[in-house]
Amino acid sequence: MAALRERIHRTFDVDADAAAQTADAFVQRLSELGFLELHPQDGGLSAMRRRYLQLLKKALVNLIYPEHELRLRYLEAQPSTEDRLGVQRALRDLRYADAASFAELVACKQDGQNFRRAVTRDAHTMVGLRRLDNIEWCATQIFAAGVEGDFLEAGVCQGGASIFMRSLQVAYGEEHRRMWVADSFEGLPAPRTEADAGLDFTEERMPWLAASLTAVQDNFRTYDLLSEQVCFVAGWFSDTLASSEVGKIALLRIDADLYESTRDVLLALYDRVTPGGFIIVDDYHAFRACRAAVDEFRAERGIADPLRRVDWTATFWRKLA
Ligand SMILES: C[S@@+](CC[C@H](N)C(=O)[O-])C[C@H]1O[C@@H](n2cnc3c(N)ncnc32)[C@H](O)[C@@H]1O
Repeated sequence: MAALRERIHRTFDVDADAAAQTADAFVQRLSELGFLELHPQDGGLSAMRRRYLQLLKKALVNLIYPEHELRLRYLEAQPSTEDRLGVQRALRDLRYADAASFAELVACKQDGQNFRRAVTRDAHTMVGLRRLDNIEWCATQIFAAGVEGDFLEAGVCQGGASIFMRSLQVAYGEEHRRMWVADSFEGLPAPRTEADAGLDFTEERMPWLAASLTAVQDNFRTYDLLSEQVCFVAGWFSDTLASSEVGKIALLRIDADLYESTRDVLLALYDRVTPGGFIIVDDYHAFRACRAAVDEFRAERGIADPLRRVDWTATFWRKLA
């Protein structure tokens, strides 16, 4: 792998990190498709770790029982009916009877796309497989380079992406690092700035974006990943983050949709990110407001570290100095 990364880096004159990311993703994909088998020299630990993480990703985006999501939609659309058996048969067979919807739903989960324009409500994370892959890639770079610091997600909803971040620490024997989980645990604030005008994602309009602290802790527990190293910061970012106990951060993931929320996180936490660490912004391409917060902040601070696209919405950069 090291030789392949080096060759891409030199042949295409791309930076070493970008070359490594491309090579790793390409080889990983070939292995997932069964075109090659990876044989790490560690008695199978890496292979088992990879299988654990792959299964976990599928569970977190709900690729294990995706048909349940179609079933819920089907039931929501049904008028009340006396034909209970008919409904039960329809629910049993829905995946095959409506194969096109099933295929579309599964495809959406790869990319974390909304399915038929509705936000993912029935999975522990809405971010999709590509963005989970990106978190994994950043984490492995941090571990390999020994970048000091904890992981933090600001904007967690049901906690799925944070759960995955913690699972990486555990799976790679980096459990001493903390996983900070920051959210109001009552949904998004009402839009208050001009940039956020029209983006009303409050609990009154979108109840599924407001998961309680208890629900998120229970979700961590479900995956056997709740421990003392998982720390919760509850409240509005503007009230909590700057004065929080959070120390050095190696991986900062921002998933808060709005201009104001994204800016609050960057202002409070960017300086705590260790050089060599990563900043991921989930909604950069999805919401102009979020993009404006990031672009403004980078311009104010003179940050020139290159932005790299993850999928249709997310971006990230490595803090070089
Ligand atoms: C899109 S959801 C996060 C999705 C999540 N990362 C996942 O894996 O599915 C946005 C979250 O940001 C939180 N949020 C947004 N702005 C906030 C703020 N200013 N303070 C605290 N929480 C905020 C909301 O409560 C919500 O849980």
